[in-house]
Amino acid sequence: MKKIAVFASGAGSNAAKIIERLTHNPSPGGEGSNIDPKIEVALVVCNKPGAGVLKIAAENNIPALLLDKEKFFRGDGYLQELKDRGIDFIVLAGFLWKIPSVLIKAYPKKIINIHPALLPHYGGKGMYGQFVHEAIIKNKEKESGITIHYVDDLYDHGDIIFQAHCPVLNDDTAETLSSRIQQLEHQFFPIVIEQVIREENK
Ligand code: GAR
Repeated sequence: MKKIAVFASGAGSNAAKIIERLTHNPSPGGEGSNIDPKIEVALVVCNKPGAGVLKIAAENNIPALLLDKEKFFRGDGYLQELKDRGIDFIVLAGFLWKIPSVLIKAYPKKIINIHPALLPHYGGKGMYGQFVHEAIIKNKEKESGITIHYVDDLYDHGDIIFQAHCPVLNDDTAETLSSRIQQLEHQFFPIVIEQVIREENK
């Protein structure tokens, strides 16, 4: 069994799709599956009290860990808590704090992030959620998409695992573009997570 911690601070729509595919669906690898390794979302990690993702965790009976900023950045990055819970792999799904080096060292090539644009463009500190889509519309880009990548010490920088593209239409607003991007995220993120974990266990 491979245990994933999903770090998320927002609505948690990606977390919900990941849980749906990996924990509840017996065919690809969840409970009852005969494909090894089995994969489950064992923990939701969040830095915002009241975030939608906490409700999603509760509805799915998944334990949630609410982070304290001081302990996360100046302490051990909650490494001990993650190890105690047997976490093998970390997925960032709308988590906006930088991951401390202590976690990156402890989970080499085992932390992945999703970004709502085609990196290396439109990434970096402050480039998240609606800000990304607003910048793309303002610059009259013709194309956007999603990037799934390994996490390293820099924001939105690690090796790219997967990208999917979509058009930016002339009459798009940040909201319409955001919903097109969200569809891509929901379609691909759970599958890519599963593939990455299976590949590293071959
Ligand atoms: C997603 O669109 C994700 O790509 C973005 O936050 C959103 C979370 O939505 N992440 C970033 O911008 C990271 N730089 P969700 O809470 O509904 O899954």
